[in-house]
Amino acid sequence: MTQRIFNFSPGPAVQPEPVLQEARENLLSLGNTGIGVLEHSHRGKAFSAVLAQTEADCRALAGIPDNYRVLFLQGGASTQFFQVPMNFLTKGDTADYLVTGAWSEKAVEQARRYGNVHIACNSKDRNHSYIPATASYSDRPKYVHFTSNNTIFGTQFKVDPKPPGDAFLVCDASSDIYSRPIDVAKYGIIYAGSQKNLGPAGVTLVIIRDDLVKSAALDIPDMLQYRFHAENDSCYNTPPTFVIYCMGLVFKWLRQQGGLKAIAEHNEAKAGKLYSYLDQSKMFRGTADRDSRSLMNVTFVTGNETLDKRFIAFAEQRGLDGLKGHRSVGGMRASIYNAFPAAGVDALVAAMQEFERSQG
Ligand SMILES: Cc1ncc(COP(=O)(O)O)c(C=O)c1O
Repeated sequence: MTQRIFNFSPGPAVQPEPVLQEARENLLSLGNTGIGVLEHSHRGKAFSAVLAQTEADCRALAGIPDNYRVLFLQGGASTQFFQVPMNFLTKGDTADYLVTGAWSEKAVEQARRYGNVHIACNSKDRNHSYIPATASYSDRPKYVHFTSNNTIFGTQFKVDPKPPGDAFLVCDASSDIYSRPIDVAKYGIIYAGSQKNLGPAGVTLVIIRDDLVKSAALDIPDMLQYRFHAENDSCYNTPPTFVIYCMGLVFKWLRQQGGLKAIAEHNEAKAGKLYSYLDQSKMFRGTADRDSRSLMNVTFVTGNETLDKRFIAFAEQRGLDGLKGHRSVGGMRASIYNAFPAAGVDALVAAMQEFERSQG
C-alpha cells in the first residue's frame, strides 16, 4: 500500500486510522451479517443497531441531556444556514448574528431571506483575525447565532456568547465539534458538517432542544422540518448510512482516547507546539490574535507570497500536504483536527525550522 502522508486538509480531513481499518474490514460483511456496510437497508436490524450505537456514543461523549434530539441530516452545514431561520424566524422577528468569518457571513445572507438580522459584532475590520470581546444584542432576538471555530481565519471562541432574554443560542460548530468538552444545555441548536472532526463528508450532525423541535415552523417542506427527522429517528428518507457508520466509529475512537477532555488536552498540546514555534520564528508568524487562536486551524504567513509558495512546495516534498491557506488569508493553514497525529505537527515544525535555516 502507498505510504500515508500528513494531511493538513481543512476538510474532508484526516480520519483516525483505526476507523479506516475497521470500515475497510466491514465493507464486504458488516460483522457476520454477510452483507457489506454499504449494502444494508437503512430500515434493517443491522443498520438500526449502528444508528442507535452512534447516537448513544454521541450522547455519552458530550453528556447530551435527555431533552435534546440528535439528528443526522443532509445538505451540509450550509443547509443549516437557511434551515435554522426557515424554522424559527418569521417576518418581523429578529435574529442576532456574531460575524467572525466567511461562514457566519454566509449564514447571515441566508437568514435575511426570512426575517431581520442584527449583527451583534463583526471582526471584518481586521480581516476576521480576532474574536470580538463583546457583542451588542438587539432588544429581543429570537436566537443568537455564532460560528465557534473559523476554519478559514484560524480563530476560535474561548467563551460562549450569552444570548439575552429568552433567545436561544445556535452554534455552527462544523470545525471544532467534539474537540473539547461542550455544555450542550447552554445551546438551543448545535450543528456541524461531518467532514472535519466526525468522519467523511455527507452528514450534518444537529443537536437540538426538544421544545424547539416542537415549536418550529409547520408551513415549510417536510424535509426541512426538524420535527419530521426527529419523529422518524433521522430515517424519514434514506440517510447516508455509510457516513453515519463511520461517524459511529469516530465516536468509538474518541471514547477510547478518553473522551472530550482528553482529546482537548491532545489538541492543546498539538496546537501549542505550532504556536510556540511561530512566536519565536523570525520568518513565520501566526495571523490570528493570541487570545483568539484556533486549536483546529493554525493560520500563518511569512509576509512574502513567493516565500509562502516556496515553503508550501518544500513541505509537500516532505510529505506534508494541504498547507496552502485560504485565498482570503493567504499563506499557510495547518488544519489539525482531533485525528491529526502529533507526529505530523512535529514534522511541520521541523520543516519550518529547516526552511528557515535554508533561507538564511
Ligand atoms: C465553520 C464552517 N461552517 C460551515 C461550513 C460549510 O459546510 P458544508 O460544506 O458542510 O456545507 C464549513 C466548511 O468548511 C465550515 O468550516
